[in-house]
Amino acid sequence: MTTPMSHPLPANAVFLPAGVTGLPDGAVQSVQRCAACGQLLSPLDAAPDCPTCGGLLEIIHRAPVDEFDAPLSANAIKHRFSQHCCALPMGHASGVWRFESIVMPGAGDAIVSHPEGNTPLLSRPAISRYTGCDGLLIKHEGHNPTGSFKDRGMTVGTTQAVRIGASAVACASTGNTSAALASYAAQAGIPGLVFVPAGKIALGKLAQTLSYGARTLLVKGDFDECLRLVQQAARELGIYLLNSINPWRIEGQKTIVFELLQQLGWNAPDFIVLPAGNLGNTAAFGKALREAKELGLITKVPRLVSVQAAGAAPFARAFREDFATRYTVQAETIATAIRIGDPASWDRAVRAIRETDGVVISATDDEIIDAKVTIDGAGVGCEPASAASVAGVRQLVREGIIRASDTVVAVLTGHVLKDPGMLVELHQRADYARANRPIEIEATVSAVEGVLRATRGSAS
Ligand code: F0G
Repeated sequence: MTTPMSHPLPANAVFLPAGVTGLPDGAVQSVQRCAACGQLLSPLDAAPDCPTCGGLLEIIHRAPVDEFDAPLSANAIKHRFSQHCCALPMGHASGVWRFESIVMPGAGDAIVSHPEGNTPLLSRPAISRYTGCDGLLIKHEGHNPTGSFKDRGMTVGTTQAVRIGASAVACASTGNTSAALASYAAQAGIPGLVFVPAGKIALGKLAQTLSYGARTLLVKGDFDECLRLVQQAARELGIYLLNSINPWRIEGQKTIVFELLQQLGWNAPDFIVLPAGNLGNTAAFGKALREAKELGLITKVPRLVSVQAAGAAPFARAFREDFATRYTVQAETIATAIRIGDPASWDRAVRAIRETDGVVISATDDEIIDAKVTIDGAGVGCEPASAASVAGVRQLVREGIIRASDTVVAVLTGHVLKDPGMLVELHQRADYARANRPIEIEATVSAVEGVLRATRGSAS
């Protein structure tokens, strides 16, 4: 169903202005708008992108109102969010659905929730010391049900699939999106199809996707080719696309920011640092901050820092040239989750970086591994791509952009068990100084004693 209709919604409208008329059918609480040409679509339109110009769609909501239809004050909105933290039925206590009014208002019975979110904000002296930033906090998205932040977007994307009656859902993925899609599609009872680059996704993610029952296509090509293929397949075969170009995915991922702001008592940090690949999350964070500022939930806007892997860093390169050129690269990095050379959410992410006085940098594979071994060794653990955020904080402290006293939230995007293959290999390497090599012993107490003596010796 495509019901395009133009409307002079101001290009800078963060929420639907009061009294606006002439919106597409069904656009009472939200509307889809093409970020490129301004085309408006019904919130129940399944088009993967703008039917007029092919631009990416974004969701514009009405600002939250009370039962008399009057706009809520910032304090009333905060109060509503905290009440939902312990709400019944369980749906609203989800770290995504307690923000329903600014994510997908009126989703009601269609909601497909695990629940998800409610991830911890950690402070770990060993990681703070490593980065040189005393005020470092870790938002650990690996604590989501399928072990990555993708669950936040997928609960909303799958709910939309239910609302529009999708017959099948699909995505291209470096692994985490596919695991999340497989899980949520199974819960919704909708067939799921995932396109992943053959031989280039981490073992844990492949195992999850197979277990949850999605049809898993190992494509002979990289992620960028998988994405082109799934977009074409969605268009020609009528499958509902659940990549992060889907604007509802972005709405779900915004809640990482709303939740961390809520955890900080709505005192915005100085920086929010995250790993970046396809740039959906960078775009989502920018949108969340724009909305939080507009609603008066925060007074100061944190600076966003997107960190790419050096072998997959077209966005970081463009940032250094004030985004004059949109680059693509042949991506290569050990951080397979962000092995992406042609990021889809480019324009949205440029806006996020510009609006937040943000920074885009890259970290080499060695820097990513070093940060990861530190995070793992602190007992926190994360997958390789996630460690790019901590590597990025360390780099910016050294460059004097982040000060030791700044409040910085670094997002860890995925769980340590996502990539066991890389870890087992790393810790068996004879040439890696920080390897925690497993020790084979005879089944005797004296052998154990020998190991204990050597361990104590090396610790003293
Ligand atoms: N960290 C992890 C663990 C990821 O899985 C991804 C993306 C990112 C960071 C980057 O986020 O793409 O929004 O900039 N993974 C996608 C996937 C591409 O298919 O799972 P982004």
